[in-house]
Amino acid sequence: MPATVVIGAQWGDEGKGKVIDRLAERSDVVARYQGGNNAGHTIVAGDQTYALHLIPSGILYPTTLCIIGNGVVVDPFVLVRELDQLEERGVDTSNLRISGAAHLIMPYHVEMDTQSEIRLGKLSIGTTRRGIGPAYMDKAARIGIRVQDLLDDSILRRKIAIALDTKNDILEKIYGEPRLDADAVADQVLAVAPRIAPYIADTSLILDTAIRDGKTVLFEGAQGTLLDIDHGTYPFVTSSNPTAGAACTGTGIGPTRIDHVLGISKAYTTRVGEGPFPTEIDDAAGRHMAEVGHEVGTTTGRARRCGWLDLVALRYAVRVNGMTQLGLTKLDVLSGLPEVQLCTAYTKPDGEVSADFPWHQSDFHGCTPIYETLEGWDEDIVGVKNLDDLPPRARAYVDRIAQFTGVPITLIGTGQGRHEVIDSVEL
Ligand code: GDP
Ligand code: IMO
Ligand code: MG
Repeated sequence: MPATVVIGAQWGDEGKGKVIDRLAERSDVVARYQGGNNAGHTIVAGDQTYALHLIPSGILYPTTLCIIGNGVVVDPFVLVRELDQLEERGVDTSNLRISGAAHLIMPYHVEMDTQSEIRLGKLSIGTTRRGIGPAYMDKAARIGIRVQDLLDDSILRRKIAIALDTKNDILEKIYGEPRLDADAVADQVLAVAPRIAPYIADTSLILDTAIRDGKTVLFEGAQGTLLDIDHGTYPFVTSSNPTAGAACTGTGIGPTRIDHVLGISKAYTTRVGEGPFPTEIDDAAGRHMAEVGHEVGTTTGRARRCGWLDLVALRYAVRVNGMTQLGLTKLDVLSGLPEVQLCTAYTKPDGEVSADFPWHQSDFHGCTPIYETLEGWDEDIVGVKNLDDLPPRARAYVDRIAQFTGVPITLIGTGQGRHEVIDSVEL
């Protein structure tokens, strides 16, 4: 009963979509467990490129069951748009199931996200403004609207009226924005409800049955470890737990059912939005990463900040996720750099050198990376499929990462395409 959690080991955009798509070919079920359409997962299949935000990255395979678990926040309008767009391109979406316990992102959540960011000004988080934080706030405050509420007009109307009661005061009195009419919001949502209703199911039961039947199940993390609300670089994080433990609470299966945790890291580092990033660089190598790696956000189109691979942070991700395998994507992007650097320790503001990820935010904000420099390689490695075909210097780079983290590297990305990969992943 192989169940594998695939998580981002950095600040998101590690190439999880490509990896899940690749592994979905030999899996029966792919389940998303947290986040929402703040995610942007790119899949390049032949001459077709897909950017998925909400629907699991297994959807391109007609026999793979795709699940949106209870831990996800679902914008019903985005969901319908994504379903329509996939179907227009000939993708069969009948294998999608959505948990009735997942919470809905309502139009007022999107508005609150935007207004809150504007008000924070220079202190803003740089959110995707998709309403993620406000939707999780309502979930925790127990005034959220759930997917199952789409099935009952009167319950939906009542819950929206309750949720909007205080929000309208905030919108009007704090943000100076117009009040929203609860019935008008309900009408909007109910208009798309019939399109979503057929997909609603008991996804915890479906997953449990699949695992009992010995099916191969993947849990698709969105965002990344350092964006985790508990374990990330708070407050510059998202409002959910992308780390592996949340695969259980976010889908309704127990921790004893998970067999593997595959962490995905780029061969370097990127970050979108605000917050500390010790190995960020603004030089020729950084520009090389941004240009060759096309480092532009899939969801918001913002430029991604670039830097060297941070092994201190990566080893932390190994710890907090219980990572058993590591996938290293975009190794091809580093070809052509005269030298490559790996951060193996930090000097903290008090001068202490440590290879452990600092628990105190001020140490992380103020630390200076200590690098190991390795020789770069000139060979174009796009499309390489065998480890033995990597140039020796690229191989040395990969080997050093595996040695430092103590985790076997079972996947290496050598290009955007779904087959451009060295893959020995154990499912
Ligand atoms: P995700 O959010 O983790 O799914 O990652 P994104 O899709 O937001 O960003 C990763 C980008 O890198 C996408 O454009 C992918 O097509 C691309 N990508 C993934 N793996 C590789 C790789 O090994 N090499 C190259 N050159 N591009 C890759
Ligand atoms: P995928 O799944 C990269 C970042 C935002 C912001 C912070 C909070 O594609 O890896 P939010 O809208 O979640 O409240 O924003 O988190 N962020 C991501 N960065 N990849 C993502 O998803 C992200 N989802 C959110 O840029 O800094
Ligand atoms: Mg992304």
